[in-house]
Amino acid sequence: PALTPDQLKALVRTVPDWPARGVQFRDITTLIADGDGLAATIAYLADRVDAADAQMVAGMEARGFIFGAAVAARLGLGFLPIRKPGKLPIETLGIDYALEYGADRLEIDPGAVTDGMRIALVDDLIATGGTACASAALLRKAGAMVETAHFVIDLPDLGGADRLRRDDIAVDALMA
Ligand code: PRP
Ligand code: HPA
Repeated sequence: PALTPDQLKALVRTVPDWPARGVQFRDITTLIADGDGLAATIAYLADRVDAADAQMVAGMEARGFIFGAAVAARLGLGFLPIRKPGKLPIETLGIDYALEYGADRLEIDPGAVTDGMRIALVDDLIATGGTACASAALLRKAGAMVETAHFVIDLPDLGGADRLRRDDIAVDALMA
């Protein structure tokens, strides 16, 4: 790739005090607006998903769609969208999970998963790991094997990567 991981990191915008006071929000909008930045990010992620020998890529709505679908297309793999509730027009398989304040739900088309299929998770960022852990549990409930998860950004202080590892998922990120 034309850019190093350090150069990619410099393209991510950090916004102070958003969405709440004290939060330093890492915003990938600036990274994906840069053609070389987007291409290099996809190339690095695709190498890692390829090394994991995945048969399909799953990405979480919405930012996981940007990276996950591009990685899947580059590798000639199918893409499985993990959707926020009420979006899919079929009978879905879903999982409810706790947030810091409240609860949320993710849904998939169970028909997209064949038994024992190796699916790699891709998202822009892992923070608490709530989204990624619920996604992995949902895919496993559908019969998939989920052994790796790939992120552009890990916020290690929030413990999400450790949570995923406790669920036997190898975690990989391009930057912290
Ligand atoms: C963000 C991000 C991850 C998740 C990380 O998505 O893209 O999916 O939160 O947080 P966690 O590790 O604490 O679960 P968000 O729910 O903001 O949705 P969006 O992609 O639609 O903006
Ligand atoms: N950036 C983007 N998404 C997030 C963040 C962040 O810093 N924290 C939790 N989700």
